Amino acid sequence: MNKDRKLIIAGNWKMNKTVAEALDLVNGLKMELATVKEVDVVVCPPFTALDGVSKAVIGTNIKLGAQTMSEYGFGAYTGEIAAGMLKEFSVRYVILGHSERRQIFGETDALVAKKALAVHAASLKPIVCVGETLAEREAGQTEAVVGTQLKGSLVGLTPEQMEETILAYEPVWAIGTGKTATTQQAQEVHAFIRARLAAQFGETVAKRVRVQYGGSVKPANARELMGQPDVDGALVGGASLEVRSFADIVKNSI
Ligand code: PGA
Repeated sequence: MNKDRKLIIAGNWKMNKTVAEALDLVNGLKMELATVKEVDVVVCPPFTALDGVSKAVIGTNIKLGAQTMSEYGFGAYTGEIAAGMLKEFSVRYVILGHSERRQIFGETDALVAKKALAVHAASLKPIVCVGETLAEREAGQTEAVVGTQLKGSLVGLTPEQMEETILAYEPVWAIGTGKTATTQQAQEVHAFIRARLAAQFGETVAKRVRVQYGGSVKPANARELMGQPDVDGALVGGASLEVRSFADIVKNSI
């Protein structure tokens, strides 16, 4: 595929997999994806499986991500996980502001922005998620909603930090529903996101930022989605929980 930006495909395992199941999955992925160099492959297991999975991926092309992170450093923050803890397991990426975090756990754009700064301060890379609900899309508010989320979630980032940030456009109505955005719907929003980035951070930065699509990505639709000019990878939920489907998504995208 002839794009300047290297595709990045990340599996978001959400609150799934015991340690043993996580190891099965990652060991299967290692066998399937050992030779893939064209795509950055990332897996984001639950915190409890980071230790095992991090050991399993040593020396492979599979990189590790976390699903969220505290905006604070070590200290009295019961239940939270600090950047310094993630770094012990060679975590490189951190998903921030996933719609489940926003909707179920009340994360706001302002909080996502703080977390993004903390992720960068630790020299990790955030994957910042944005996306509209079905009601918002039907009301013609997609760009307004995504524009507001983008602006608010990236407050305070320098252009250099923005370049090292990954965005994920995940229409809420497509997550876990089996309903994928059409390639045209995805490309439209991705192009809008890139235009906003250009206005805020400059053309050069906007051209370098990778924007993933997420929401019911499957082996059958991966190639077409990834073929869009402004789609630079995928954030995969359900289909990342099985070796076959995640491996096929990666292979079909090359
Ligand atoms: P899905 O989830 O692939 O199961 O739709 C995507 C996500 O939530 O990142």
